Amino acid sequence: MKLGVNIDHIATIRNARKINEPDPLMALEILKQAGANQVTMHLREDRRHINDFDAKRIIESSFLPVNMECSINEEIIDIICSLKPHRATLVPEKREEVTTEGGLDVIKNEKRVKKAIEKLHANDIEVSMFIDADFEQIKKSKELNAEMIELHTGKYANIFLALNTNINLTPNKLYKNINRMTLKKELKTEFNLLKDAAKLAKDIELEVAAGHGLNYQNVIEILKINEITELNIGHSIIANAIFTGLFEAVKKMKDIINGKF
Ligand code: PXP
Repeated sequence: MKLGVNIDHIATIRNARKINEPDPLMALEILKQAGANQVTMHLREDRRHINDFDAKRIIESSFLPVNMECSINEEIIDIICSLKPHRATLVPEKREEVTTEGGLDVIKNEKRVKKAIEKLHANDIEVSMFIDADFEQIKKSKELNAEMIELHTGKYANIFLALNTNINLTPNKLYKNINRMTLKKELKTEFNLLKDAAKLAKDIELEVAAGHGLNYQNVIEILKINEITELNIGHSIIANAIFTGLFEAVKKMKDIINGKF
């Protein structure tokens, strides 16, 4: 199982002070030493964390492949084409969201997605689609020539959180009036959706990644889905790094996904 570490939140901390540290570039060597297989980052339209200069320096100097998350906005796609990361992961983007909510609707945005994929491919950049576990979205991703999909695990993670914490966290409010038995069933349903989606994607020869909201606890069940070969994890690793250091935080996740738990 490959691990992509999303380093956006290193830039989030830097930007909170509007100065030059911590520099996300400094994470690269540590990620590599700790066993990460990929650097993931998101050049958002509002540049709330990673900016163009970060992206350029990281892509130019990374020993690990770089997976650039981006919207299908034409201006952004042109920037990604000029930066030439190893892969682009197309995600939906809303300015007002705290983080990426839900997968990209490839069917609704077919024309724009097709154009983005063609441009990225013309620049030798692999394309992954960040989508919900939905058969039609998977088939459309294949039809539009994406090499890979990344299944959105956000709903699974939110239900897991609601089941394991009682405090009034934002995702928990969605499940406030649902009893534990029902939540357990919903978690199982969500897991099965991810499992069936991963299987379909592999059957039609798409590579399968998963990500969003994964942490040291909820990732264990996801590891049972053999068709998933890559996980992209950010918030939980950076949150842990505050206490343990980045090396330990990445190594611990890598150990878990290698079955050492
Ligand atoms: N994968 C994709 C496509 C994402 O948009 C994000 C969030 O930027 C992640 C993975 C990482 O999510 P988290 O920070 O919740 O681990």
